This record gives sequence, structure tokens and C-alpha cells, in this order.
Amino acid sequence: MKSMANTGDVPLVKHQRVRRGLYALMLLFTIMFIFYVTYMNFVHDPQAEQFLSHKTDLKRELHTSVWLKVMYVHVIFACLAMIAGGLNFAGRIQRNRTFHKILGYLYVTSVAITDLTSGYMAPYSTGGKINSIAFNMVNILWLAMTVIAVIKIKKKDVYKHRIWMVRSYAFCFTNMFIHLYTFIFHKGVGIAYTDSYTIGVLGAIFTLILLAELVIRIFFKDSANLKPHHATSL
Ligand code: HEM
Repeated sequence: MKSMANTGDVPLVKHQRVRRGLYALMLLFTIMFIFYVTYMNFVHDPQAEQFLSHKTDLKRELHTSVWLKVMYVHVIFACLAMIAGGLNFAGRIQRNRTFHKILGYLYVTSVAITDLTSGYMAPYSTGGKINSIAFNMVNILWLAMTVIAVIKIKKKDVYKHRIWMVRSYAFCFTNMFIHLYTFIFHKGVGIAYTDSYTIGVLGAIFTLILLAELVIRIFFKDSANLKPHHATSL
């Protein structure tokens, strides 16, 4: 009986190892990206001259000093959401209920502030109306997914809490993917910056929704068996 269980456990252990390895890699990318964003926006180009230079045919007047202040707040809370949300997937942190709760509330607050600041910047999006609409859609989706995750844990539904947190957390990589796609299509393929940025925005949203579903199906299937008393409440 014991040996059968062991045989069956081998793929599970392997699966766990892969899951942990990928999680460590994700945290590493997150930390590197936070350093990159902080450096680019607060040291290298604090006036966002490069980014703003592409806003040539805006339909409404941009108040640069207000936009910049809002963008700084956006970046700070976006980075906090990335850190707090990322750490909260760690088993060790989930076992420390108080710390998990603190990070959870920090994540929800950061998402709300990132969303709010995004709401101010969206009408001035590079690429125009299509990107403004896309950003505002993410604003609604991101907040809704985060609120659903909170409601699920209040109802002690650990599995649903986890999968909704995966869906919510995926949007923390919006900026990373926008810039990745923009870079590939602008520098690599030679498409104009604004069009590449639009491909970046739409591509990022599509990729992140898909990626979250893949992660849930591959790595979070086993959480479906969690009993309510294992709940990690926010
Ligand atoms: C959580 C990680 C995020 C980070 C680190 C981040 C960072 C940034 C940065 C640095 C900018 C300035 C422009 C640039 O260099 O790209 C920006 C702009 C913007 N972000 Fe975010 N952001 C994040 C998530 C989001 C999300 C989820 C939304 C969702 C709606 C969003 C909406 C916006 C909008 C609307 C702008 C202005 C874009 C434009 O003017 O074209 N951001 N963000």
C-alpha cells in the first residue's frame, strides 16, 4: 500500500518542484522588473519625456505636471501590488495568517489605487480611443477579479480564492507585456511606435487572461480538494 502511494507520489513531487521553480523564477522577474520600472521612471526619465513624445494627436489637453504626479503614484502602487500579491502565493507566507492578511489588504489597496490612477491616465492613452477603452476594461476586470477573490475567502472557499487571485495577479504584468510586445513589434518588426503600442496593449490583455487560465489548469488543479478549514483568509 505504502509503495503504491510512493509510486503515485513521484509525479506529484516532480510537479511540486516544477511549480516551486517557476514560482521562484516569477518572483525573480518581478523583482528585476520593479527595479527596472523604478529606475526608468524615477531616475532615467523622471519627466517621462520619451513616453510622452509619442502622444502627438491627443483629443484632449494633457496637463503634464498632473499626469506625471498621477503616473508616479500609479507606478509606486503597481509595484507594491506586484510584491504583495507575488509574495502571498508562497506557502510559507500563507501559513502565517496575520502576515498573509496584511499582504492581502496591501494588495487590494494597491490594486484599487493603481486602478484609480489608471482611470485618470486612460483617456490620454498613446494610440487613442482603442487603448483608452482597453485600459478601462482592464480597470473594471482587475478590480472585479480582486473583489471576487476577497469574497471567496470570506466564504472560506480556498480553491476559488486562489484561482481568482491568479486571475487578478496576472494583470500585474500588464506593463511588462505591453513594453515587451511594443519593443518586438516596433524595434523588431519595424511597425510604427503607436501601432506597436496598440498591439502591445491588446496583446498583453489577451496573453495575461490566457496565461492565468493556463496556470490555473496546470498548477492549481490540486487546490480544488482543499477543505474550508484550510482557508487562508484575507
Ligand atoms: C501592476 C503593474 C503595472 C506597472 C508596473 C505599471 C506601470 C506603468 C508605467 C511605468 C506607466 C507609464 C508609461 C510607461 O512607461 O509605460 C504606466 C502607464 C499606464 N498604466 Fe500602468 N502599470 C501597471 C499596471 C497597470 C494596469 C493593470 C493598468 C490597467 C488598467 C494600467 C494602466 C495604465 C495606463 C492607462 C497608463 C497610461 C498609458 C498611456 O498613457 O498610454 N497599468 N503604467
